[in-house]
Amino acid sequence: MSLKGEVCLPGDKSIAHRAIILGALAQGKTTIENFPLNKDCNFTMQAFKKLGVKITVKKNIVNVFGRGLSGLRKPDGDIFVGDSGTTFRLLLGVLAGQGFTAKLVADRALSKRPMLRITAPLRLMGADISARRRITKYGRRDEYPPVTIKGGSLKAITYKLPVASAQVKSAILLAGLLAKGKTKVIEPVKTRDHSERMLRLFKADIRVSKNTITIKGGKKLTSPGNIYVPGDISSAAFFMVAAAIIPGSRVVIKKVSLNPSRLGIIKVLGRMSADIKIKTYTVRRNPKAEPYGDIIVKASNLKATLVTRNEIPSLIDELPILMVAAALAKGRTTFQGVGELRVKETDRIKSMTENLQKMGAEIKIERKGNFENVIVKGSASLKGNSVKSYGDHRTAMSMAIAGLRAEGKTKIDNVSCVGKSFPDFFRILNSLKW
Ligand code: S3P
Repeated sequence: MSLKGEVCLPGDKSIAHRAIILGALAQGKTTIENFPLNKDCNFTMQAFKKLGVKITVKKNIVNVFGRGLSGLRKPDGDIFVGDSGTTFRLLLGVLAGQGFTAKLVADRALSKRPMLRITAPLRLMGADISARRRITKYGRRDEYPPVTIKGGSLKAITYKLPVASAQVKSAILLAGLLAKGKTKVIEPVKTRDHSERMLRLFKADIRVSKNTITIKGGKKLTSPGNIYVPGDISSAAFFMVAAAIIPGSRVVIKKVSLNPSRLGIIKVLGRMSADIKIKTYTVRRNPKAEPYGDIIVKASNLKATLVTRNEIPSLIDELPILMVAAALAKGRTTFQGVGELRVKETDRIKSMTENLQKMGAEIKIERKGNFENVIVKGSASLKGNSVKSYGDHRTAMSMAIAGLRAEGKTKIDNVSCVGKSFPDFFRILNSLKW
């Protein structure tokens, strides 16, 4: 069996969340094309509907009827955001500036994910927040959903992010839209810049200089009218690795987002000798635009590489599938400073090492001071086995690709979790099988 053919994927999840959020806060109507109708993005739409925003959906076209920066309405009851961490965290940033109290509630998995990284800077800006508190297994104090937030008059802050996180950066920038003065966010390492691009597109007063982003509060947002959401590179990653590791494959992935802050997967696979070609057809110099193009991947013999700590934000969601690639590459691949994987939808260091070890891969976890590295010794093959999704969409999809390449049968439990980001994953994968 090999994979052959051409696919066009649903829109980028990160861009889609932001298009709903800014569309809701802008003046005028925003039409979003190629909107990904997955569970997470649906939770963002439901949340804004609860906040009084009219949103209509027809196939994958979404219309958002903006209510202006301070036009959201106090919700009737709690806002439930399921397992969508991006909805939860970005919404806290929005609610920090609104003049009412709201309670955000999450499902079991998201209720275990840390929120102090968001609540701490928003409190500094003046939001009144209460959350469930607990001591982590590493002895640190943290906060968890549910979170109740009373928004109000915010003041601008200058904030150096303690963790490289696009969600935290974005929440502060969204709060900054309604703060008095100039809010500055300084990133230790650059993370995905979809918020900055889209804020510019909606005519916010925003400036980026190296790792510092400055936003001036009080300026109204204006809808650009239409937004096209290019295919999600995090979904494309599964097909890229599949085509690279399954002999005889050639897959073309059309119209994928090629935002420079998300290209880590392409760079790392390139270093691993993957046969990847990119055809960009929107070479725009406009820094507001999200560039996109086609990715063509052919099977090849992969070799090991070193993935450094500074590269991690550019491929954070692609680490599970890159571990699969590493398990089949010649030599020892090291992923440095991947500790953030512990606090994703599941602990992805645990989910991926346990699963890949069950399939015969050699993987070691190494602690160096505050940092965790994952070292994968590649081999020529994997053995099919029963593995677990841990309810995590990216673990499930990564193991499905590992299973396709393995000898014998692989069984993955509870794969319905792929609906969080990519409900059509198995249908599209099957359409490529030859
Ligand atoms: C996201 C940022 C990343 C990523 C998540 C989506 C975003 O999270 O893992 O899937 O849309 O801003 P962190 O900000 O926690 O790194």
